[in-house]
Amino acid sequence: MLSKLSKKILIYPLFLTVMLYACQQQQQTHQPQSQSQSQSQKKPNLQQQRSTQGMAVSAHPLASDAGLLVLRQGGNAVDAAVATALAISVVEPFSAGIGGGGFLLLRRAETGTVQALDFRERAPRRAKRDMYLDKQGKVRQKASLDGHLATGIPGTVAGLDTVHREYGKLPWAAVVAPAIALAEKGFPVSSRFTKAVESRLDVINKNRAAREIFTKSGVLYKPGEVLIQRDLARTLGKIAIDPQSFYRGNIARAIASDMTKNGGLITLRDLKNYTPIWRNPVCGNFRTYEICAMSPPSSGGVHLLQILNILGDTDLKKLGQKSPDTLHLLAESMRIAYADRSEHLGDPDFVSVPVKAITSLSYAKLRRSQIQMSKAKPSIEVKAVDTQTLSRFVHESPETTHLTVVDKERNVVSLTFTVNGGFGAGAVAAGTGILLNNEMDDFAAAPGVPNLFGLVGGDANAIAPRKTPLSSMTPVIVTENGKFRLAAGSPGGSTIITTVLQIVLNALVYDMNVSEAVSAPRIHHQWLPDRLMVEKGGFDATTLDDLRRRGHMIQQRDGWGNANAIVLTSDGWLEGAADRRGEGVARGF
Ligand code: GLY
Repeated sequence: MLSKLSKKILIYPLFLTVMLYACQQQQQTHQPQSQSQSQSQKKPNLQQQRSTQGMAVSAHPLASDAGLLVLRQGGNAVDAAVATALAISVVEPFSAGIGGGGFLLLRRAETGTVQALDFRERAPRRAKRDMYLDKQGKVRQKASLDGHLATGIPGTVAGLDTVHREYGKLPWAAVVAPAIALAEKGFPVSSRFTKAVESRLDVINKNRAAREIFTKSGVLYKPGEVLIQRDLARTLGKIAIDPQSFYRGNIARAIASDMTKNGGLITLRDLKNYTPIWRNPVCGNFRTYEICAMSPPSSGGVHLLQILNILGDTDLKKLGQKSPDTLHLLAESMRIAYADRSEHLGDPDFVSVPVKAITSLSYAKLRRSQIQMSKAKPSIEVKAVDTQTLSRFVHESPETTHLTVVDKERNVVSLTFTVNGGFGAGAVAAGTGILLNNEMDDFAAAPGVPNLFGLVGGDANAIAPRKTPLSSMTPVIVTENGKFRLAAGSPGGSTIITTVLQIVLNALVYDMNVSEAVSAPRIHHQWLPDRLMVEKGGFDATTLDDLRRRGHMIQQRDGWGNANAIVLTSDGWLEGAADRRGEGVARGF
């Protein structure tokens, strides 16, 4: 006999497929411009939405639909964020999923406070500081990137379960249901999906389970072809009945056994001991706004606030958004922040992180006084960054994803999660459909040796059992006079902090609408490598020449990040937008 709950779980997927389809049709009626049109024409405002009752924005239309559906069913922002995140795990497995982890900021309308949930992956108990080094002490190429040894203990399911148990309104099964439907019935893959598989095809093809799911016998799915993930649907079905089965039940046993067979370190005990952690976000004032963002083990909030503090009361509007002076000041502030990051940031449960000092106004004043407006300061190289690292840095990597949800009470969720690099470790735990992360690469494998994103670190971010690798994920929530004003976030590894920074400045200083704010051309500097990245086509030649004359080594590249945001306008509208660089959409009602 099926229990009541199992019946609900079996019925929900069918119902939800119909509902999701209906939502899409409705959306198409109201928004005549199709997504492919918007992508090809790169017009920023096509992905913008305006509504009053609630809104979900994510990197994939079907995931935003799942969020909207749950909001329409009477769910709150937490319910909708969980549904959106789980749907992303199905339709965007290359960026984030139940085999990964992340961070969530929640602003509860009732209390007006912002809370931060850390459900980031953690190093297995058997992890060792030198686990990616060879006998000569050199980092073994790809060891922290490909295959089971690269995987940290996943936190997504525990995190979503924790926040839902405490603050969700709808039954857990109801918020998992849209993801089950998407895995079971399938969804048409986009060209973005196909490109993501292509960029990791060699690794995916080496892992039987991954190859069976994400390719047709090693051949790429074509855009528009439907991808069904039966194992993942079954796993999600079990999670819908009991999320703890991921950590203690059949799913945990399947993961642990797959680890043993493939040289991974995660054990049943690791899974059983995994717990998400509620943390205080990093909050500070910028002009009339209060900015709250993720605290360590993410570096995001600390350095977002640090850079905003260094900018201080400089009249950026008068300088002009794209003027050489503004870009130079931003670049120099970013350089300082990333230099501090490499030295001081790590898991606060293992090392002491000087959050207060780095985010203090007096420290910002000191750092501001060291910036010369006429001259870029060369980054002091701890160790030269080799050309191979630089070339990796140039490639756009589709890792990580962000989603933003606001409900009618104005509860707000800003959630960034990831499997780290595109398609994580490139391996699936056999029989589960769970794509494994390669988050161990976010540790410093050796002092001064750059990771996937060209970031260097030292002792503070060295590997240790049960430690959390340092992140750059920067979900942010901004309030003004105690009222919600803006929430945003982005993928993009090391570039996340500067992407979120520029969205905040675009919206709050330059008065751009939300779509312009997430889509405007960006720059990025991360101290090492000593390069100022500028988005191709986004800045005129005279400006770039001026920056070169000041000493910046300019590297032009195609757009990075895939941000989204929701703002509350002064007349009470929710306006949301997804980045023109991706395929995401805002859905509201
Ligand atoms: N895996 C990218 C980050 O956490 O920053």
